[in-house]
Amino acid sequence: MIGVFDSGAGGRFALRELRRLRGDIDIAFLADEENAPYGERSEGELIRLVENDIKRLRSVGADKILIACCTASTVWDKLGAEYRRDTYPIIAPVARRALSVSRGGRIGVISTEATKRSGAFQGFIPDALCHAAPELVTLAESGACDGNLTESQRNIIKKAVEPFSGCDVDTLILGCTHFAYFEREIEGILGIPTVNSARVAAREMAKRVENEGSGKTVWLT
Ligand code: DGL
Repeated sequence: MIGVFDSGAGGRFALRELRRLRGDIDIAFLADEENAPYGERSEGELIRLVENDIKRLRSVGADKILIACCTASTVWDKLGAEYRRDTYPIIAPVARRALSVSRGGRIGVISTEATKRSGAFQGFIPDALCHAAPELVTLAESGACDGNLTESQRNIIKKAVEPFSGCDVDTLILGCTHFAYFEREIEGILGIPTVNSARVAAREMAKRVENEGSGKTVWLT
C-alpha cells in the first residue's frame, strides 16, 4: 500500500490527482491537521512530525510513502535512515520540472516560511527568487479554490504573488502543495506558467508504483 501525507489540504489535492492517475492502487492518507501549519515549525519540530507521520502510515501497512508537502520534504535528508527508506520527498522533482518548463531560467518560488528558510529549492536553482506566502495556506484550508474565489480571496492571492510581477521571472513554482488550489488564478494574474508541486508529486508517485491493491483508500486523521 502507498502512503501519502501532508499537514492538510495540499495532500488532499495530491491524493485526488494520484487517484485520478491510478485507480488501481491502495492508498493510506494522513492529514496531520493537529500539528498544522507545518510552515511555521522549526526544523527540529518538522523532523519529529515527519518521522511520526511516516511511522503512523507504516503502522497501517504503507510501504512506499509520498511526502506530499514541500515543507516536510525539506527535512528529508535529516530524518533517521529508517525514515528515508522508501519515502519520497518532492523538492527535487518539482525543481527539475521547473527547470524544464522555464525558457529563460528565471524561476520564482512561492512557499511557506520554513521552505524558504531551508534553502531547499535554491539548492537546485541557486538564483531562484523566493517569497513566502503563509496566508495562502490559510486560504486553502478555508476551502477556497480556483473557480470559486470571492473578490477578497482574489485580492489576497494577488497581493501574495505581487513580488513576482514586473520582474523577469518566467516560471513560478507553487512550492507548497496547498497552493495547488490557486494554480489557474496565479497563472492568470502573472501570465506565466506555474509548476504545481502537488501535481508533480502525484505524477512521480504514479510512475513509481506497480499494480498493487484494489483501489481502496484508508483515511488516517
Ligand atoms: N502543504 C505544505 C507544503 O507543501 C505546507 C502547509 C503548512 O504550512 O502546513 O509546504
